[in-house]
This record gives sequence, C-alpha cells and structure tokens, in this order.
Amino acid sequence: MTDEVTVEIEALGPRGDGIAKNPGGRERGRLYIAGALPGEQVRVRPGNKRGDGLEAKLLEIVTPSNDRTAPPCRHFATCGGCSVQHLALDAYHAWKRELVTNAIQRVGFDPELVAPLIATKNAGRRRATFAAFRPRARDSKTFFGFHTRASRHVVELEECLILHPELMALVPKLREVLADIVPPGARWDVSVTLADNGFDVLIVAAHEPGPDASMALAMFADAQGLARVAWQLEGTGRDEIEPVALHRTPVLELSGVPVEIPPGVFLQASAEAEKVLSALVVEASQGSRVADLYCGVGTFALPLAAAGAKVMAVDGDSAAIAALARAAGTAGFGGQVMAAQRDLVRQPMAAAEFRRIETIVFDPPRAGAAAQAEEIAQTDAARVVAVSCNPMTFARDALTLTEGGYTLERITPVDQFVWSGHVELVAVFSR
Ligand SMILES: C[S@@+](CC[C@H](N)C(=O)[O-])C[C@H]1O[C@@H](n2cnc3c(N)ncnc32)[C@H](O)[C@@H]1O
Repeated sequence: MTDEVTVEIEALGPRGDGIAKNPGGRERGRLYIAGALPGEQVRVRPGNKRGDGLEAKLLEIVTPSNDRTAPPCRHFATCGGCSVQHLALDAYHAWKRELVTNAIQRVGFDPELVAPLIATKNAGRRRATFAAFRPRARDSKTFFGFHTRASRHVVELEECLILHPELMALVPKLREVLADIVPPGARWDVSVTLADNGFDVLIVAAHEPGPDASMALAMFADAQGLARVAWQLEGTGRDEIEPVALHRTPVLELSGVPVEIPPGVFLQASAEAEKVLSALVVEASQGSRVADLYCGVGTFALPLAAAGAKVMAVDGDSAAIAALARAAGTAGFGGQVMAAQRDLVRQPMAAAEFRRIETIVFDPPRAGAAAQAEEIAQTDAARVVAVSCNPMTFARDALTLTEGGYTLERITPVDQFVWSGHVELVAVFSR
C-alpha cells in the first residue's frame, strides 16, 4: 500500500478534484483528490493511476480553505451527480469561468475575452438519466438513483437539489415500480424528461423487457399519467426504440414553439439554460440567412426563424430533423427552416455550401467539430457562433477558425450543470 502524505492543493481540476504535486515516492506527477480545495493542506493516501498521476483518498483536511462550505445535499459525499458543492458560491462561479479561460489560454487566446459566467438556478434539470441495478444475489433489492463517483454502485436518492421538483417527486414512484421488475444481475439506464404534457421515460437495457415488465410499466404509465414509456436494447440505434406505453407524444415548447420530442433525442437539460443559450445565439447572429449545424430539434433554429431568419438546419439525427421540420411547419416557419439530416463528421458541409450564409451557428457534441470547423474557416460568413459543452475541444476548433481569418470576439460561459464540472459556452467570431 502507498504511504500517506500531506500535500497542499494547487488547483481545482475540471472534474472538481483538488490537484496537488506528488511529493515523493516512485510515482511522479500529480495527485487528484476528490473533496479537497485549492490552498488546503490535506493528508491523503495515493491510490490508483489516473492520467498523468494518481488518485488519492482524502483522509484529513489539515488546514481548510476559507472558501470551504457545508455541502447542501446529504448525498454529496457519495453521489456522482455533483462534484463541487463544498465550495462557496463566488469561488465556485470563478472556478467554472476558469475552466473556460484555462482552456483558451492554453491555445493562446486572451482570457479577457471570457465574459462573466451566467449562472442558472439549481432544481432546474428537466431531464436526467438514473441507474436501476439489482445485484445477482437471491432476495437482493433493486437500487435506483445516480451512480456513485467513478463506480457502478448506485446511490438511492432521497433528495436531489439539481432536479426539477416534479422530476424528483417521480423518483420514489419509479423506484417502487422498478423494485419488482428489474431482473437479478440487470442494470437499466432510465432517462426521464419532464415534457410540458407529462413525463417521457426511456429505458435502455441489455435485454428485452418481457411481458411482465412491459405490463407493469404500462400500468405505471397509466396510473401516473406519463406521456410515454419507451424501451431501447443496449447497443442498438435510436431507430430501434420501441414504445411500451404511449398516451400522448411528449411536447416541449422551445422559444414558444411546441416541438414533439422523439424518444432519446438531445435536449438542453434545463429550460432556463436553454433560454439563456438561445437568447445569446439569436443576439449574436447577423443577417437573414443562417446555418445551424448540429441543430437537434431546433433549440436555436426555431427562435432564429421566429426572429425572421431563413435557417439551413443540419443534424445527424433523422428523428430530431423530422421533429424540427414538423414543429417549424406547424408554427408557420415551414418556408424559413430547411432541415436536413447529415453526418457532419463523415461528411462536413463544404465551404462552398455556405454561399450567401451570413451567420453559421454550430453546437457539436463534446468531441467538438474538428472537420466541420476546417470548412467553416474557409467561408466568408460574417459571423460564426459556436456553442460548446467542452471548453477543450472548443479551444481547438476556435483556433482553426482564427487561423482561417476569423476574430474571436467574446465567449460567454453558462452554468447549466450546476455543481458539476461541466460548463457550456457561446462564442462569437467575426470576419
Ligand atoms: C450538443 S447537441 C446540440 C443540439 C441543439 N443545438 C440543441 O441545442 O438542442 C449536439 C447535436 O449534434 C448531433 N450530432 C452528433 N453527432 C453528429 C454528427 N456526426 N453529425 C451531425 N450531427 C451530429 C446530435 O444529434 C445533437 O443533436
């Protein structure tokens, strides 16, 4: 076993772990210490390898930080949902903004380009994925909640301060119905979305539901007035999702436009963050011809159309594209939104395809949009608006755009995933 050491925490990493130099021993590099804060002296026991260093278990806080505060949630020590509830609010907001400034500074941008963080309220999450797990042992019970930190154990949630209260109120009811139907040894991912007309539940599992579970879930949907329960076999595509119970198609209003939500489609996780992000995008977009790449169900395309723009909206998810086209048509924007399915990694839009486009919006998944950014960099669109949930891949793509002649004007960080290490941002570039 590695010896205990006392170290000083130098920084708070992107996962919310305190980072210290490993003072000795054969292992060099850094120590990553969950629960420790910058400036603190802590006694730790180094353990497993992680990246360029080791994870270390916090044994004692020798000198606490002035920014240390009591975590408000009773599950904080175990639950993997939140990583930074033990930091005072101002310092927490400064750390979130720093995740963005550090990432852009690394590739040579001026950190002053980063505006103050826009915070969102907790208890706003309208969507979450829970884990249901029943151990193999005979008579074992089913656990339902969030995974613990860096493990596949499941914390039985009694409270959750980030979930919308209506979503939290469904948790004990789901736990009750799942207790009887998750088979021994099975793990289910249970995604729940609070739509405007009821809950939308999608279960992903390594097996078919079978008649008993299907019946129990259908009865549960009836009794609780859920909009839809659907099932997806692990490893299959979205096209394979089967409804278990469908009372009505879940609908969410995005910027005032009702959108019928396909099961498992991407949605911004909180209504408040969705409004903040779409307002930033609409405000930054110029001209009447806009491209919205990685558009999903139209979080940005719909308000852009409502503001009068003609929008070329592209996403790899055909169900999202169909939902956007339907919503735009119903709202009377049918002639303004041209929605197309396309894989933008395998087949990025070529620079020549953006002829007459004045603003290009792009909002890729965490991996970023390396190939697409290369093409955007060759266009003559006056504006590019990048939305990102990963400051590191954003910084890489931003560099591609500036090497192509764009100027990075400003970046606004948005704290959608409160108390986690995730941060969203909206960046504006101009030619
Ligand atoms: C972060 S989400 C943004 C969606 C939308 N802008 C919104 O705010 O709701 C990323 C989107 O990228 C899409 N996507 C993922 N991989 C893709 C690919 N290879 N080609 C095109 N779209 C892709 C997903 O379907 C998803 O809608």
